[in-house]
Amino acid sequence: MEITRSEQLFTNSSDSGDSVKKGEAGEQDQEVWKLVLTVIGIILGVLILMYLIRKFIQGGQYMKKNRIDGKVVIITGCNTGIGKETAKELAKRGGKIYMACRDPKRCEEARLEIIDKTKNTNIFNRTLDLSSLESVRKFAAKFKEEESRLDILINNAGIMACPKGLTKDGFELQIGVNHMGHFLLTNLLLDRLKESAPSRIVVLSSHAYMTGKINKADLNSEKSYNKVAAYSQSKLANILFTRYLSKKLEGTGVVVNCCHPGVVKTELGRHIVSGVWKNITSPLMSCFFKTAKSGAQTSIKLAIDPDMEKVSGNYYSDCIKFPTLNRTKDDSTAEWLWKVSEEWTGLAPKTEKSTIEIDISSEGKVVEKTK
Ligand SMILES: *[C@@H]1O[C@H](CO)[C@@H](O)[C@H](O)[C@H]1NC(C)=O
Ligand SMILES: *[C@@H]1O[C@H](CO)[C@@H](O)[C@H](O)[C@H]1NC(C)=O
Ligand SMILES: *[C@@H]1O[C@H](CO)[C@@H](O)[C@H](O)[C@H]1NC(C)=O
Repeated sequence: MEITRSEQLFTNSSDSGDSVKKGEAGEQDQEVWKLVLTVIGIILGVLILMYLIRKFIQGGQYMKKNRIDGKVVIITGCNTGIGKETAKELAKRGGKIYMACRDPKRCEEARLEIIDKTKNTNIFNRTLDLSSLESVRKFAAKFKEEESRLDILINNAGIMACPKGLTKDGFELQIGVNHMGHFLLTNLLLDRLKESAPSRIVVLSSHAYMTGKINKADLNSEKSYNKVAAYSQSKLANILFTRYLSKKLEGTGVVVNCCHPGVVKTELGRHIVSGVWKNITSPLMSCFFKTAKSGAQTSIKLAIDPDMEKVSGNYYSDCIKFPTLNRTKDDSTAEWLWKVSEEWTGLAPKTEKSTIEIDISSEGKVVEKTK
């Protein structure tokens, strides 16, 4: 039988009460120390674990230091979140940044903050409301008037799982903003991108596409609306658009890729958690979700990594290429969506085949006409 030091102390000491007390005190001290050390150990362990989880959750980071001095960049929806972090990073690296945002006041606040932090004064505020085709056309026309080149277009803006709503042109909000608005914007800017080749387009999608389906019978969610399904559909549309466009752009020097930014704590989730839940989940989100800065890393890589200059039509997450489900490779659906999008956005005349014609009556109600 092993004899521990305390037992030895105890047995060696005579039967004098004093040393018995000392022995007991010593044993108690040791117990306390053991407890303290255990607690410290557990706390350290938890902290290290949390650090590792957090590092893991933050995901791949873009580590190259390359600059993009003089390159002209448009980023949509960049007054907050991932878009703002992307704008800030590209500004730091010398880009000339056009911030295309819906709210002029918040855009200007973000612009001043970016100028202050990066000391790059080549940052401009522009109004772009992706829920209005007229606004998209105005933005593109003004931009083309003032800039003869465009090196990087980042389709960053997005809305997620919002209550049913319609864009100015009568499109369901999520397919309208996430896909149709950007579809028109990209097409209107393609000539500038081609003239400035090698140039790039970055499309923000999401893993949510995995549950997405392009509902050919009801693309505009008029028969039924499910906010999550409509979001997933719009994110699948982003990938189909990217792949189809990359094929159209073969040989032009313009590449287009899309990405999943990660589960990021941004305002995007504003329609999902609110009220008390927000106050409860907010601290948790801070620990387990990516920061906006980490969420911007994949967009930044796709936009400026020299190794990505000739890569097109792929999907990325955490700065690495990700395989995608078969539904993203359905060329006939991609072509169908492209044609419908051309018609809806007015880039092509409506054909006999198009199932719905969107028309807004004076009350702003959508009238569906089947041809
Ligand atoms: C946009 O930026 C310009 C400077 O480039 C500034 O004069 C203007 O006030 C800004 N717009 C808004 C709405 O703040
Ligand atoms: C949530 O917290 C904010 C302050 O951070 C407080 O103003 C608000 O009343 C809280 N909301 C609820 C529903 O508890
Ligand atoms: C995906 O498509 C490939 C090739 O068309 C096929 O071999 C494979 O079985 C499909 N996978 C699934 C899960 O349907």
